[in-house]
Amino acid sequence: MDLFEYADQQTPDERERYEELCRVVRHNNELYYAKATPEITDAEYDRLYREIEEIETRHPEYRTAESPTQRVGNDLAEGFAKIKHPVPMLSIDDVFEHMPANGQESDEELVDFYERLCQALDDPSPHVVVEPKIDGCAVTLMYRNGKLAYAATRGDGSVGDDITANVRTIRSVPQQLPAGAPKTLEVRGEIYMPLAEFGALNAQRDAEGLPAFANPRNATAGTIKLLDSAEVARRPLRFLAHGMGAYDGETLRNMDDYERLLTSMQIPYNKPVLHAHNLEELRAAAKKMDTLRRGLGFGTDGAVVKLNDFARRDALGATARAPRWAAAFKYLPEQKETTLLGITVQVGRTGVLTPVAQLSPVFISGSTVSRATLHNQDEIARKDIRIGDTVLIEKAGEIIPSVVKVIEAKRPSDAIPYQLTDAVGGVCPSCGAPIAQEEGQVAWRCTNFACPAQAVTRTTYFCSRTALDIENLGGVVAEALVNTGMIHTPLDLFVLTQTELGALNLGTADEPRRFGEKNAAKAIDSLEKARSLPLERWITAFGIPSIGSVTAREVAKYHRDMQELANSSYLCTLVELEDAIARYNKLNPGSPANKGKDKTVLEEKRAELLRNIRQISEPYAARGYLATEPEGKNGLHLVNPIGTVSCRKLKAYLDSAAGQHVLTTLQRLGINPVSDCYAENRMTGVQGPLTGLCFVLTGSLSVPRDEMERRIAAAGGKSVASITKKTNYLVAGNGGGSKREKAAALGIPIIDEATLLRMIQSPNTP
Ligand code: IVH
Repeated sequence: MDLFEYADQQTPDERERYEELCRVVRHNNELYYAKATPEITDAEYDRLYREIEEIETRHPEYRTAESPTQRVGNDLAEGFAKIKHPVPMLSIDDVFEHMPANGQESDEELVDFYERLCQALDDPSPHVVVEPKIDGCAVTLMYRNGKLAYAATRGDGSVGDDITANVRTIRSVPQQLPAGAPKTLEVRGEIYMPLAEFGALNAQRDAEGLPAFANPRNATAGTIKLLDSAEVARRPLRFLAHGMGAYDGETLRNMDDYERLLTSMQIPYNKPVLHAHNLEELRAAAKKMDTLRRGLGFGTDGAVVKLNDFARRDALGATARAPRWAAAFKYLPEQKETTLLGITVQVGRTGVLTPVAQLSPVFISGSTVSRATLHNQDEIARKDIRIGDTVLIEKAGEIIPSVVKVIEAKRPSDAIPYQLTDAVGGVCPSCGAPIAQEEGQVAWRCTNFACPAQAVTRTTYFCSRTALDIENLGGVVAEALVNTGMIHTPLDLFVLTQTELGALNLGTADEPRRFGEKNAAKAIDSLEKARSLPLERWITAFGIPSIGSVTAREVAKYHRDMQELANSSYLCTLVELEDAIARYNKLNPGSPANKGKDKTVLEEKRAELLRNIRQISEPYAARGYLATEPEGKNGLHLVNPIGTVSCRKLKAYLDSAAGQHVLTTLQRLGINPVSDCYAENRMTGVQGPLTGLCFVLTGSLSVPRDEMERRIAAAGGKSVASITKKTNYLVAGNGGGSKREKAAALGIPIIDEATLLRMIQSPNTP
């Protein structure tokens, strides 16, 4: 959510916005495909993706091969053998349904797609098919001489994970084809979990105290990547075919031939397949599919439109990302009317007060909904939402539904307007501390860092997988720990003993339920392990607004450890530079705001500011830490790897009483997390005698360590905090015991300062 809140803000600089969007989308691709734990809804994802496409249309020069629009998602995971796909597994380009507005039809994008097909094929009415788009996980099944040779995930499109053992447990996947099978038949399709089975699985997990899956797709993605096939066999997975990869057999002319082949091979094909022979038939089929898909018993996220004729498909070919002969039509989310019974206020993990709509229950997109988020007071005011109103709500295949609008014609005369601050009396509903609105932000926040509502959410987040991954410390336990006063903030966890934790009562006074020694032992064990988790995980765990795991990693690239972050001159410099650059750009004599002002004076001031900017950035620029881009139309621009907003928020947090408290507590606990990705910072640009070499410094040197690192970087080398196999040299001054031992153990050469300086002067090794 933090990243998303950020994504919602208007950043004046499009380049920066573009890069941030790419980062967010890449991060969410990873969460979605590889980890099966998405943080944003599909609709939010689509919005971000669309914005990237829009910016790329305006600025094609931004687009690189790394852009999310140029790649398929990547689901590769550790623990699986890799399989090279004989034919790439591509994605499909989306076309969206829209609300019909001023003369525009809702299926305009679909019509455009068909018209592009017509043009490319020089045919006014190409034959296409329309199928449900199964919301599952792409898989490929390779049959050689009728035998299932392997099953693999899409991976990065060219290499996938070998999930054969898991797929063999799925009953709808034949292991052996009947007689007459083609020599090679690679069936592409989708693994999914039917809705009813998904509901039962979640109910069972709930009963066993296991976390529920957010949706069937997540459950599927999580299951096919299990390393224990016996467990996979217990999960209700199914398979349906929707495409073809490699093939060696009798010629297939079109979809009918392919369906016939699969039927005779007893491989289930995704149905229904609607045929359309012209634009009008296509539009009707797309409409019909929206109704049909609801009765299929599994989740769909649209319809797929494909050319029927295989030779024509080949003729059109594909881009690096998707075939030109297919499109995924994404329907507008389902909407329903219901009554707004009341509004409650929830205090989130960062202390944000979120108004929540209490609704008269309605059944929508497969589940009963009785709550919806109202986001914030601005949203309530903008949509003029009043208690008692009839509201239109929608669920876009995601977990949390939202209120689209009020049906004003149905407003009762006694509907009550709502004002969040009044409703809570200006204080946090959880702890009674004053609430405040940050500058330029719409959200109201509880000002009390030790607010119990935040303590529970902060602790749960702190222990979550993205953060420090503490076993057995989910929401229920965190709540009991906070309610019993055993902890007030997440860091209090580190002083709990196994006995104390084991005795924790998760039940009631009448019906006590002990947490138990065994669970406690596991929790304590992962807390111990968390002490040495990398810096980026710890920064994430703080739960600072707008600093999610992606930004945290970026921060960790420029700080060796928590100590260095606590005293970071880099953050200060970034903020200082941005301010100076803003002032510099404002003084541009060409800008309309400066019309009539004395040009020489402006230029003089600018020259002075520029000197100042160069002076501040020089030591960092030498290390490749930052760059001010050549002055363009919009003036000077700082390439800030952490991002303007995140950078300021992080600094504000570290400077705040809360942040200071956390930092001193960490010190007291003897926890100083070390960065895992320091070596990945932008120090790579410089070419010199040390290019490609990685150094660790230890002991006292003749110049401050900072200075020595600067010299190494200026010569093209890298210096990192701790010794790994990748380290080339340990530079040891006086002292420096443990690092020497470690280097010796790994066979890493230990050199002295004089040798290092000689290396810098000449490219020869010592
Ligand atoms: S055809 C070259 N048909 O959606 C890709 N794909 O978002 C042609 N999918 O990777 C694929 N239902 O895994 C096709 N009826 C269907 C589908 C379908 C779901 C998946 C497929 C694809 C993804 C793209």
